[in-house]
Amino acid sequence: MTVEHAKTTCHPVPKRLLDASQNPVPHVDSMKKYKSMWTESVEKPDQFFGNLARELLTWSKPFETVKHGSFAEGDVAWFLEGELNVSYNCVDRHALATPEKVAIIHEGDEPDQVRKITYGELLRLVCQMANTLKSLGVRKGDNVAIYMPMIPEALIAMLACARVGAIHSVVFAGFSSDSLRDRVIDCSARVVITSDEGRRGGKNIATKRIVDDALRDYQTHVEHVIVFRRTGSPIDWVEDRDIWWHDEMAKARTFCAPEPMNAEDPLFLLYTSGSTGAPKGILHTTGGYLLGAAATVKYIFDVQKDDIFACMADIGWVTGHTYITYGPLSLGSTTVLFESTPTYPNPSRFWDLIEKHKVTQFYTAPTAIRALRRLGDSWLKGKNLDSLRVIGSVGEPINPEAWDWYNEKVGQSRCAVVDTYWQTETGSIIISPLPGSHVTKPGSATLPFFGIKPEILDPTTGKILTEIGETGVLAVAQPWPSMARTVYNNHSRFVDTYLKPYPGYYFTGDGAYRDADGYIWVQGRVDDVINVSGHRLSTAEIESALVHHETVAEAAVIGGHDDLTGQCIHAFVSLKPNVDASEGLDKELSLLVRKIIGPFATPKRIYIINDHPKTRSGKIMRRILRKIVNGEQDSLGDISTLADQSVVPSLIAMVHGSK
Ligand code: WT7
Repeated sequence: MTVEHAKTTCHPVPKRLLDASQNPVPHVDSMKKYKSMWTESVEKPDQFFGNLARELLTWSKPFETVKHGSFAEGDVAWFLEGELNVSYNCVDRHALATPEKVAIIHEGDEPDQVRKITYGELLRLVCQMANTLKSLGVRKGDNVAIYMPMIPEALIAMLACARVGAIHSVVFAGFSSDSLRDRVIDCSARVVITSDEGRRGGKNIATKRIVDDALRDYQTHVEHVIVFRRTGSPIDWVEDRDIWWHDEMAKARTFCAPEPMNAEDPLFLLYTSGSTGAPKGILHTTGGYLLGAAATVKYIFDVQKDDIFACMADIGWVTGHTYITYGPLSLGSTTVLFESTPTYPNPSRFWDLIEKHKVTQFYTAPTAIRALRRLGDSWLKGKNLDSLRVIGSVGEPINPEAWDWYNEKVGQSRCAVVDTYWQTETGSIIISPLPGSHVTKPGSATLPFFGIKPEILDPTTGKILTEIGETGVLAVAQPWPSMARTVYNNHSRFVDTYLKPYPGYYFTGDGAYRDADGYIWVQGRVDDVINVSGHRLSTAEIESALVHHETVAEAAVIGGHDDLTGQCIHAFVSLKPNVDASEGLDKELSLLVRKIIGPFATPKRIYIINDHPKTRSGKIMRRILRKIVNGEQDSLGDISTLADQSVVPSLIAMVHGSK
């Protein structure tokens, strides 16, 4: 389908960025340089990535083979014979060279709670935690779950796992105990690391209690729960299982030799929602992942010596893994870890943080930008944001109004704005402008990063679409170092989801088109994944939570447009025969979803309906529900396949009020 796309403004590279008297020269400072690097990266990946991997990473044993395998075989591997340790690369080598340099700036929940950890200190802390894990019997290849708030100990725990070769699985602390349990069981975690409580926006979050609930009455492999004391509130204690972080650390030696890891040894698992079934444990490996993290921080954020990198994501999502922990630390930068919310204690919080810490790179999500824009410009008044050079956006397509506001008010029209497209599975950013070379267009993630060869494919035939403006599915034509290698314990699911739909390609699940300049415009998911405030949710998962309720017969969940959160959840629920909707049933169902998945999955609207729009074979036509919710009830398309067309007017009346 070809459509007319709105004309957009083009933004050249801000002059200041190329002015050597004001800034370090960007790593890529012209389109010519980008093009020649990109061409080399896709045409001679062995040469390009071999050199980059030697330049950016320290190997304890050099690799001989750069690239191996294919999408067709599902056997992609990089830097095959190479050995390295991620914690050595992120900590030791900087601790040895610049021990006094600040590695982590922790901006606590209250603005006056700032803690700085140098590389020298970080090395000792990571070693102590690594020794603690070892003393508990954790060995290379074991799994450790991390359920923590945004505190330095979360990063220390991740790096300690990497040091001993344990595979970490960070679970976002907004997930419910049910979701945590599923993940702990799936990866057979031996240890869970948590805190007594978290603090966010002035409120306490009962992390330990959620861990207790997750583990109670269930057969898991968890032998120990390590508890960091964050607030000191009283908590329940399970003798022989629970141990205090500070007790163990006090006993542990401050050096621990890093375990040499093969480039293809697993580094971490991160669970993410797909269109069907239970969340998948996306597995990332050591060498390729770290190279992607380091290379994108270097080139896409143009990180230079002495930069202060601030990514506002949560470490429970991949953005936090790559752009709070591994990317900035691998380059020896200073990373800012933010415990609070954009509006606590007031909506100046981000701008105060930038001013206070002289942040040079700032990275957040469109939903936060839209929310702050809505609260008005007065919150930015008098804030000195001059330190900023690159401001980034991630998680969903950014609408041009939000892009313009971000550029003008936050970037003061003198920063590069990078709209970065990627996924949990891609490990690091795959489509984005580079600050010193790309003309940007609000709403487009622009051009591919090094090593990425994107194609727009016809969704049905899989043929490459070449027509300008023609929307198809976004796929990648050749393997890149930081891509996921498998779904934990389920390689065929990995192959079926990403590699089989369009043979020879990696399938992203997103729709996109290219404009006349070859710029890519990502349109959002083409599968049953919805994106609420940059959080990825599967409609199937929410539906299965809803049918847990004893009165519910069937549920259909679709994504509606939302000005603030991008998409929001609308649930259509039918009840079992002979049950009437009880008072407050919608609230009960909403609570059920929160309990089973987590508060961020709360539906915006729940409609209790008599019948779903179904085909004669009994399949719910979600397309019809989606169109009704999004105000497109006048263009429902062919409804003749519906078993009962009379349900349509009643659904429209229910959603939009009867006319
Ligand atoms: C999905 C991946 C990895 C970043 C955090 C989300 C959407 C992400 C963009 C962007 C348009 C974007 C896609 C993608 N997405 N960034 N810049 N423009 N869409 O990671 O939870 O794995 O979600 O987020 O739909 O498939 P995730």
